[in-house]
Amino acid sequence: MSEQLIFRDRRGTNAMKWNYLDRIGFKGENLLGMWVADMDFASPECVRRALREAADFGVFGYDAAPKEYHEAFIAWEKERHGLEIDREWIRFSPGVVTGFYWLVKMLTEPGDSVLIQTPVYYPFMSAIEDQGRKLVRSELVNTNGIYTVDYEDFERKITEEAVRVFILCSPHNPIGRIWTRSELAKMLEICRRHSVKVISDEIHHDFELGGHKHTPTLAVGDYGDMVAMLTAPSKTFNLAGLQNSFVILPDKDIRDRYDAALRDVHIMGGNSLGNVAAAAAYTGGADWLESVLRTVEDNDALFRARLAEGLPKAVISPLEGTYLLWVDLGAYVAAEDIKTVMEERCGLALDYGTQFGGNAPCHIRVNLATDGAVVEEAAARLIRNLS
Ligand SMILES: Cc1ncc(COP(=O)(O)O)c(C=O)c1O
Repeated sequence: MSEQLIFRDRRGTNAMKWNYLDRIGFKGENLLGMWVADMDFASPECVRRALREAADFGVFGYDAAPKEYHEAFIAWEKERHGLEIDREWIRFSPGVVTGFYWLVKMLTEPGDSVLIQTPVYYPFMSAIEDQGRKLVRSELVNTNGIYTVDYEDFERKITEEAVRVFILCSPHNPIGRIWTRSELAKMLEICRRHSVKVISDEIHHDFELGGHKHTPTLAVGDYGDMVAMLTAPSKTFNLAGLQNSFVILPDKDIRDRYDAALRDVHIMGGNSLGNVAAAAAYTGGADWLESVLRTVEDNDALFRARLAEGLPKAVISPLEGTYLLWVDLGAYVAAEDIKTVMEERCGLALDYGTQFGGNAPCHIRVNLATDGAVVEEAAARLIRNLS
């Protein structure tokens, strides 16, 4: 039995997606908040109950993570993704972004090359450049909205630039692909050949849509010595504000370096409410997640149907994973106008292709983890103002 989703109108709250948009640089009035990747749904009832109980108890002292925190996560990964994780491999990070910043720092020296596949989630680029490493891009191949890897370019960049680390986005934000086992195996084999370590950001891995199945990088083969996996309950159960993420490090040497890096800044673990929420979510949140997945699929179908009729030349990439739709509006808007048209004419707060470091001057990224009425309204505003 699926749990009924509760949609929340978050206008007038502290939600960044809907409020304080001028601070982010958005212009225009009454914008529909469809940019940053969180959901407009209340978290599962089991999470809210656990947090209510903790709040009623009322003591927020130095708590340890409950034993279910790790056990339920390990069971979740095994059941949903067929991934066997040893408790010993698991480390803490407040966020996945923080985790890959630390990993880039500890796996490379200043000036070393780090590879990404553009267009990609923008903190991948800042993690490299903010820390004085060299950003190397391999552009994904876009064939009518379907993105694939150019393996020749991928390997050439690795050899020409003496790449030390590759940051993989799996599933890939913003283009919505769930990489197949064979695609992952090809990338990993190339990395193995050239002694490249892989930071695998799998934060979106529970969003498997339209029958597509995620393969964890660590389940592709014997790559534990070269792969660091990052994931979290934050996207899956809408808990980003509680700041708990998992770093999975099968390799002892990488683990030791990670432990040393955290000791340096004296980070010991997550906040107590985040621990409680994550343990509850992995224990009892599966039915709620099913409702989210069906809603995202429905919203995807709705948006596509409306645009097929009203803006038939929009190119919408297939949504296999994530809840973020990647739409090319190049047939309707010039690159230099896209921000003004989206915000001031259409009243939409979205992410733009140009933020993702690749060749996507007229793309928008639309967050579908919301009520169908919001998606309907967004499609109507686009059609009204662009057709
Ligand atoms: C690929 C990817 N990694 C990481 C994050 C954010 O992770 P965190 O909030 O845990 O730092 C996001 C959020 O959109 C994301 O899309």
